[in-house]
Amino acid sequence: MKPLQILVLHGPNLNLLGIREPGHYGVATLAEINQQLSELADALNLGISNYQSNHEGGLVDRIHHAVTEKIDGIVINPAAYTHTSIALRDALLASNIPFVEVHLSNVHKREAFRHKSMLADAAVGVVAGFGATSYTMALRGLNEHLLNR
Ligand code: DQA
Repeated sequence: MKPLQILVLHGPNLNLLGIREPGHYGVATLAEINQQLSELADALNLGISNYQSNHEGGLVDRIHHAVTEKIDGIVINPAAYTHTSIALRDALLASNIPFVEVHLSNVHKREAFRHKSMLADAAVGVVAGFGATSYTMALRGLNEHLLNR
């Protein structure tokens, strides 16, 4: 069977992981998180690619491209766009690609404006609060979901 293809999307300011508010986001860099995901993808026989952007339109364009690439599933940390972006929601719905929403921090333990997600009700699932492990949990969960469809 051809390996399932997964796209990992990282939203704004996540390029600063490692130095950005370590009390909330931990000390792992984005490169380290992507490396952990690649190793897990190998173990699960998944193809994986990743993309980070500080721009809403860049993320929307990448989701559109995922359709032509025949990506099977998306792991996305939309960062601050989680709480604001109808454009990202619409792009994900238009793509029809199953996705898991990820957060390093437990957004429900933080400011009220972080409690709302524009994407969560359209996601397969949401993982929040486990630091870098949130991403690997999301990849495992998405893999199970895709295999059991
Ligand atoms: C975040 C939580 C968001 O509220 C915040 O804007 C981020 C990161 C997280 O991973 O915990 O940039 O998505």
